Amino acid sequence: MRRTRPLLGVSTAMTVGFRGFSVNEASQSVLDPAGLAARQIAELFYWMVGGATLIWMLVIGLAVYAIFSRKAHPVLTTRKLVIGGGAIFPTVVLTGLLAYGLSLMPDLHRPAPAGSLKIRVSGVRWWWRVEYFDGDGNPIETANEVRLPVDQPIAFELLAEDVIHSFWIPPLGGKMDMLPGRSNWLTLHPDRQGDYFGVCAEYCGTAHAQMRFSVVVSDEATFADWLATQGLASRRAGDRSAASREEVFLRRGCSACHTIRGTAAKSRVGPDLTHFGTRRTIGAGILPNTANHLSRWIVETHRVKPGVEMPSFRTLANDPEDLSALVAYLESLQ
Ligand code: CUA
Repeated sequence: MRRTRPLLGVSTAMTVGFRGFSVNEASQSVLDPAGLAARQIAELFYWMVGGATLIWMLVIGLAVYAIFSRKAHPVLTTRKLVIGGGAIFPTVVLTGLLAYGLSLMPDLHRPAPAGSLKIRVSGVRWWWRVEYFDGDGNPIETANEVRLPVDQPIAFELLAEDVIHSFWIPPLGGKMDMLPGRSNWLTLHPDRQGDYFGVCAEYCGTAHAQMRFSVVVSDEATFADWLATQGLASRRAGDRSAASREEVFLRRGCSACHTIRGTAAKSRVGPDLTHFGTRRTIGAGILPNTANHLSRWIVETHRVKPGVEMPSFRTLANDPEDLSALVAYLESLQ
């Protein structure tokens, strides 16, 4: 049975399932490991919690005994207890834990073997630029969503475009800083299919807490299908209404920041929207991708995500026809 976890800062509206996916079902917990590194980290955590609990009980037990015992103890015995329990015992325990922790490091830091799937993720205030590569090494850009095939190592190249961010998918493994002007590498090896969340783990400004991304781990064939679709220009419905909806997107100025491959929109300031309709979430992992949420996002951008760089298009609230055309157009981008 899957546990549902309440997520901080997410309104109850997010419990609604959509497209077979419920935001609250997607795990963001280190204690729900779905990758090799995360399993080791969870194991280390349980050893430490177990050990700490035992030692805590021992210490508290001795303290209670010391308070209530009326018995006199010879000085030599108490001195042995102080040296043994206060110096030797912690040294042995901490050395053991250190050795165990260090023994995990080589596995956690082993680079992915040559030929592994490579994904470049860049932290941007406050969203994620995600690039896959086709057979010729040309990037295939998407945003705020990372899809992975299960049971293979994946090499992440991590960059930052403005300030320091940190890339963390808690159910898959450890975190890695993203630094401007430098590539950091992280290998993750998912071993369980499912929906997860990644977060930014380094304070990076106003909307830091709302800088998330969805992570979908699927079998190899599903992943390959998805990637092949992402590599195509957006599917342009041929009918006239689709063309006029696209015209709204361009006329309203969305193309000043966004790319939709196959159209005149080619800016890289904001997220690539070429296959927007296939994404799980909007606003970098903060709202489910539904027409209602998208309308709200466009009109009340700053109320949904304070600090966001995208301007709120409040004027569209007075033009429901344009707004619904825009929303229908974006949701149709498969
Ligand atoms: Cu990006 Cu915190």
